Amino acid sequence: MPTLKGKQIVLGVCGGIAAYKAVELLRLLTKAGAIVSVVMTRNACEFVTPLTFQTLSYNPVHTDMFDLYQEKEIGHISLADKADLCVVVPATANIIGKLGAGIADDLLSTTLMATKAPIVLAPSMNVNMYESAAVQHNMQVLFQRGFHLIEPDVGALACGWDGKGKLPAPAHILAWVERIATPADLAGQRILVTAGPTREELDPARCLTNYSSGKMGYAIARAAWQRGAEVVLVSGPTALEAPVGIRRVGVKSALDMHAAVMRELPWATVVIKAAAVADYRPCSTASQKIKKKNAAMSIELEPNPDILAEIGAQKTTQVVIGFAAETHDLLHHAQDKLKRKNLDMIVANDITAIGAGFDIETNVVKLLHADGRVENLPQQSKASVAHALLDRVCALLGSN
Ligand code: PMT
Repeated sequence: MPTLKGKQIVLGVCGGIAAYKAVELLRLLTKAGAIVSVVMTRNACEFVTPLTFQTLSYNPVHTDMFDLYQEKEIGHISLADKADLCVVVPATANIIGKLGAGIADDLLSTTLMATKAPIVLAPSMNVNMYESAAVQHNMQVLFQRGFHLIEPDVGALACGWDGKGKLPAPAHILAWVERIATPADLAGQRILVTAGPTREELDPARCLTNYSSGKMGYAIARAAWQRGAEVVLVSGPTALEAPVGIRRVGVKSALDMHAAVMRELPWATVVIKAAAVADYRPCSTASQKIKKKNAAMSIELEPNPDILAEIGAQKTTQVVIGFAAETHDLLHHAQDKLKRKNLDMIVANDITAIGAGFDIETNVVKLLHADGRVENLPQQSKASVAHALLDRVCALLGSN
């Protein structure tokens, strides 16, 4: 699974109020195993002390190109050379202007000018500054030169204005850093993922549903985007946040999911259906809450469309992968679904096994291939299962 473990990252911090959020990003980067060297501009030190970054990075903080000790021990060129990736948070109008114009007059601008590593800029400033012709022009220039620019959020700004210029959440910036640091072996692919449960409404207060949390499908969507794919996530109701960079289409019932998936299908080169779709729905939905009676009651159900079977029946060049959630005869039932739904692969999980199935962080799966191969994967995080699955997707795309 691609990770930031052991990666050398230069975190540049500029003088903006959002500098405090760079502290949280630093924590996320070190938690992910990255080795972080922090370079602060003189103005950044007015907002947050170097000691904070030094304590949390476990490394000396670099602030001054002309400090004899810092330059002898590390040196700006060696910082530039050893970086696997540089990320600047917040990227002010000043650093954006300097990089655009080729000005290297302090340690950060010099390091960024001298590095061959990818550079990620997270601009954050007053909305009028952000929208100014100069900043827009400089960002355009940097984008064309291959810099990675993370779009600021819109919202209430520290300067009192409302508008575009807010630094995105550190977790959002981390997701971009992970994507840029990961080999883009799925670049050019358009992946449609489904996740979560469906809800089949009985009346305005009740529904038939299942225990799917969406964690497995969301992990796949996140991993595919990290590896360079464009991703659309059709999601049943879950408590999860929309993953960064991904277009999420929210649905409720199996019929909604069917409509959304069929709409997106022509766009996709790969389809991965991790959603737990209800096989049946009530024949009718009461418009008012069904009242209790002192007698047995039954609910009449009718079948929902089998979305995956429909996709399998019409597939030509697409790679199509399903999941099978079983409680018994796992291989037998998964094999049957693989054939019947005309899939390239099915991911079989025994939802009664420890560490597998609904609403937990791990899964234990068997990968059944159309050519008869069966792979048994050990218990691992859903993120790690997602990457293992995508390794197989790459192989399938290569052999198509
Ligand atoms: O969401 P989590 O809490 O992380 O849990 C993950 C999971 C257990 C839900 C997931 O790993 C999983 O197994 N998803 C598939 C569950 C399921 O509905 O399996 P199934 O055997 O009923 O369906 C087989 C396949 O056909 C699935 O890919 C399903 O999306 C698809 N299907 C099923 C019924 C239907 N009407 N339309 C479909 O497309």
